[in-house]
Amino acid sequence: METFAKKRAIFPGSFDPVTNGHLDILKRALKLFDEVIVAVLINEGKEPLFTIEERMELIRRSMPQDRITIISFKGLLVEAARAHEASAIVRGLRAVSDFEYECQIAMMNRELAPEIETTFLMTQANFSFVSSRLVKEVVRLGADPSHLVPPTVIEALHQKFEITK
Ligand code: PNS
Repeated sequence: METFAKKRAIFPGSFDPVTNGHLDILKRALKLFDEVIVAVLINEGKEPLFTIEERMELIRRSMPQDRITIISFKGLLVEAARAHEASAIVRGLRAVSDFEYECQIAMMNRELAPEIETTFLMTQANFSFVSSRLVKEVVRLGADPSHLVPPTVIEALHQKFEITK
């Protein structure tokens, strides 16, 4: 009987914090790949709102799934992909405006690791304007975007901004 190698993809990002847009891409990726490694960037240059452990825990609590592994990484994404034997990188596209930046990253990653394919998945239309940055901003200013992020993320944002509801 023929056996097929499992198709494993890596889905990288800052996830500061995870949004329903990210989760939508992750669900779509799980339809195409056997396993998805969610790789949370340890942003050494940036000052994220959530620590790396918090960002990983929010993803874990938002989408428990046996075909998902959550890791953190620093340095080159393609090295993390190679270390975890992922043959594809998954990135979400919300709109044409994402494309130029994503195209540059994909081309650079191909230069560095020609054996790894970047795949772009389109997010559900009603998440096409959602970004972690805007979610943080509107919660800090008192709005309730609970249809755009998992409940656990809303709670975590309220705690960070010391908002009592
Ligand atoms: O969620 P983000 O912040 O848009 O994700 C950006 C990410 C993590 C995909 C990108 O910054 C990245 O891959 N960083 C790792 C460093 C790297 O590999 N750079 C070379 C490719 S341009």
